[in-house]
Amino acid sequence: MKICMIGAGYVGLVSAACFSEFGFDVTCVDNNPERLKQMEEGRSPIYEPGLDDLMARNIAAGRLRFSGDLGPAVKAADIVFLAVGTPMRRGDGHADLSYVYGAVEELAPYLDGFTVITTKSTVPVGTSREIQRRLAALRPDAEYAVCSNPEFLREGSAIQDFTHPDRVLVGLDDARAQEVMEKLYKPLSIRNAPVMFVSRESAELAKYAANAFLALKISFINEIADLCEEVGANVQEVASAIGKDRRIGDKFLHPGPGYGGSCFPKDVSAIIRTARESKSPLSIIEQVQIVNDERKIAMAGRIVKAANGSVRDKTIAVLGVTFKPNTDDMRDAPSLVIVPMLQERGATVRVYDPQGQKQAEPLLPGVTWCADANDAILGADVAVVLTEWNEFRALDLKAARARMSGDVLVDLRNIFSADAARAAGLRYHSIGRPVSAD
Ligand code: NAD
Ligand code: UDX
Repeated sequence: MKICMIGAGYVGLVSAACFSEFGFDVTCVDNNPERLKQMEEGRSPIYEPGLDDLMARNIAAGRLRFSGDLGPAVKAADIVFLAVGTPMRRGDGHADLSYVYGAVEELAPYLDGFTVITTKSTVPVGTSREIQRRLAALRPDAEYAVCSNPEFLREGSAIQDFTHPDRVLVGLDDARAQEVMEKLYKPLSIRNAPVMFVSRESAELAKYAANAFLALKISFINEIADLCEEVGANVQEVASAIGKDRRIGDKFLHPGPGYGGSCFPKDVSAIIRTARESKSPLSIIEQVQIVNDERKIAMAGRIVKAANGSVRDKTIAVLGVTFKPNTDDMRDAPSLVIVPMLQERGATVRVYDPQGQKQAEPLLPGVTWCADANDAILGADVAVVLTEWNEFRALDLKAARARMSGDVLVDLRNIFSADAARAAGLRYHSIGRPVSAD
């Protein structure tokens, strides 16, 4: 079976590499010349653990290739995936579908024989229907079915998530397409991954509902963390106690500086728009968006407070700027709100991130980029953990204190123990935990 993957970003490239690992023949098409050049040289243009090896193995086996030319790949394909971006649209905050519809127009002339065209991109309810309408106008002669196959992988653990999904969701209304999609996901269904066939509308909406619910869980625990601080409880104990209840579940209950990334912020915004347009507003999710926006601002305030009320002429070391660890992705990272606020208040900011510097450099002007965490904290009045990269967990806090000129450690990801920080002579601030507790 031949697959054409249009868009080789965090989702498209990982999906393409994983499908080729299953033994399918995959051509990955991208129109970004820089990304394409790197992939043609066998290198991943994004940082995703394990991806370089997976690509190398399947390129060598002749199952995975890259192209800037969509025509031959679409012509040969049994399945064409649309894995292009659907960023937040400027102005109204809805999903920008220009890349999706642009790709549909580009691929239409090349459809040859029965082809399944499926979105992997996250697209609002009704998009499959609209793609079908546009294709019917462009190619009334062609044989195809339009499906929705939203992707649930997370950056940083994308390969594991793709190959061990909680479920695969396929929205369709065509029996021939179902046969093709069953064959495609056989390598996963055989391992007992549930492959769910639903309507296209259900698949499209379920993706947004899942992300909105996860965003809600994070905002909930962030507010509970604030409450813990006021009443002397420990959010980690509270989260683990409520998480034991299987109706709640223990995942996505880590408090932090607010959710970021390429999905939650834009998808929360888009589902709010869909709901308002449908005159069925999601008032809870509207509040989640407000709580998350306010949280990032509040975290900058928390750093200022920890620095005795002012960061003017102080040096702040920021450890980690990506929206989460194990990615180089800076889209909607909380650091993009927090760091400029510290700079506006007169701070000098020294930054280290294990993978994020290249993407972050143009987005965080005026900061000093450092070679590692020890370099970043040199001479700092305040050290701030913004992203919980594993390498920060092993930081020798006593040695860190000795390199700093101040003694304040603000840990917005709760990776250190308060006792260890205090023993190292640091004044420690974390999220939702009493000062003396671990
Ligand atoms: P991305 O920006 O990393 O990648 C999109 C790629 O598409 C880019 O390389 C771009 O050059 C390419 N492209 C755009 N138009 C094209 C065209 N006409 N022809 C060929 N290539 C084209 O985006 P992403 O993070 O991979 O997200 C893609 C979609 O998947 C989005 O809808 C997103 O919401 C969804 N999604 C993302 C994640 C994630 O973790 N990033 C997870 C689940 C779902
Ligand atoms: C998310 C969804 O999890 C995934 O299913 C979807 O396909 C794409 O969007 P991703 O954005 O890659 O994945 O990362 P995720 O691990 O979900 O984290 C998103 C944000 O939430 C990060 O900023 C992270 O730090 C934050 N987060 C996550 C918390 O603050 N607390 C948590 O408990 C979990």
